[in-house]
Amino acid sequence: MKDKKQEEHKKEKHKANPKYIFSKPGAKDAKTKRIKFKIQRFDAAKDKKEDAVRYDTFELEVKEGTTLLDCLDLIKWRHDGSLTYRRNCKNSICGSCSMKVNKRTKLACETQVHKITETFCSDEILIEPMGNMVPVKDLVVDMGNFWGALHAVKPWIIHDGNFPEKEFTMKKEEAKKLDAVASCIMCGACYSDCNTLDVEKRFLGPAALAHALRYVDDPRDTRKKERLRSLNKPGNHGVWDCTHCFACIQVCPMKVAPMEQILKIRKYAQQSGIIYTSGARHHKAFSDGVKHAGWINEVTLPIKSVGLNIVGFFQLAPVGMRMYFKGKMPDIWHKPIVGAEEIKKIYLELEKKEMSNKLDIKEPELFEHRNPNKE
Ligand code: SF4
Ligand code: SF4
Ligand code: FES
Repeated sequence: MKDKKQEEHKKEKHKANPKYIFSKPGAKDAKTKRIKFKIQRFDAAKDKKEDAVRYDTFELEVKEGTTLLDCLDLIKWRHDGSLTYRRNCKNSICGSCSMKVNKRTKLACETQVHKITETFCSDEILIEPMGNMVPVKDLVVDMGNFWGALHAVKPWIIHDGNFPEKEFTMKKEEAKKLDAVASCIMCGACYSDCNTLDVEKRFLGPAALAHALRYVDDPRDTRKKERLRSLNKPGNHGVWDCTHCFACIQVCPMKVAPMEQILKIRKYAQQSGIIYTSGARHHKAFSDGVKHAGWINEVTLPIKSVGLNIVGFFQLAPVGMRMYFKGKMPDIWHKPIVGAEEIKKIYLELEKKEMSNKLDIKEPELFEHRNPNKE
């Protein structure tokens, strides 16, 4: 009796949820499509490296609205039980089903296969494990470096001042600033597609740096300057390793926009006078030029970017020579530029606006006023 009831409940659920219905091969439904899934398999147990990776292709008749995770489940349950991948919530919350779909990292549980075939104008979909991480088995990767980078930015509040007896109070605007990063589900998609990590494995990466900003922006944290110094320190592979490629913004399923958070950390550091790297000096020389003259001085820009660094000057010399012989050397004395005064005015207006968003770095003792019991 109980079994019968369960069976009926299952049928009802499937009726209400058409995405769980898979057409049988050959079904004459206008909204189904035969799709090929070319899946990378990886077996670390193989002796030879070249034998460890292979691609298997599976064909399914797929109904419109079906997600990639539904298809992988079907392949595993009906065709090849050894196919290995991570999944849990099926609801874009747990962050465990990230994988590369036609070379772009996505959550399998929110990716509709019909839409992918339409975007790429092909009924074959390539599925691979995330990038910048070592594969363990098939689509499962070792995320150790991702978690290590997160740990390196100390993703917890450090408060050195007095603690309130009850709780800290926070203004609405202060809490709102933390919203974007707080929605991160640690899926690793941004880390997987980060172009800097392709060439520099020590880069902390987009997710960890976005989390670093969350603690810099948290009014309860009292180590803001220490955090900014560490994130901007040459050799720590922090914010100045980012190349602004936008990949992390494009792939993030939760709209955390990690690159924007990285740029905010850079801005806070500059406002606090933390200018340690050539990237930071370049940024300052660039904006100082526009502020004072209305244009960029290309002669002094590389020199200011290198700073007081003899090795850096010698490294610049061959580039300078090549520019000179190719006739690309900019004039030492600039001719007056029409409109430069207007540019200066625009800059000063924008600077005023930026200064009103300046990071409020409070010394620990100033936090006393936040103790609701003393107000
Ligand atoms: S914008 Fe920066 S952090 Fe984001 S993917 Fe590109 S290089 Fe990586
Ligand atoms: S920032 Fe976005 S892409 Fe990166 S781990 Fe968090 S949710 Fe995933
Ligand atoms: S299964 Fe949880 S996010 Fe996809």
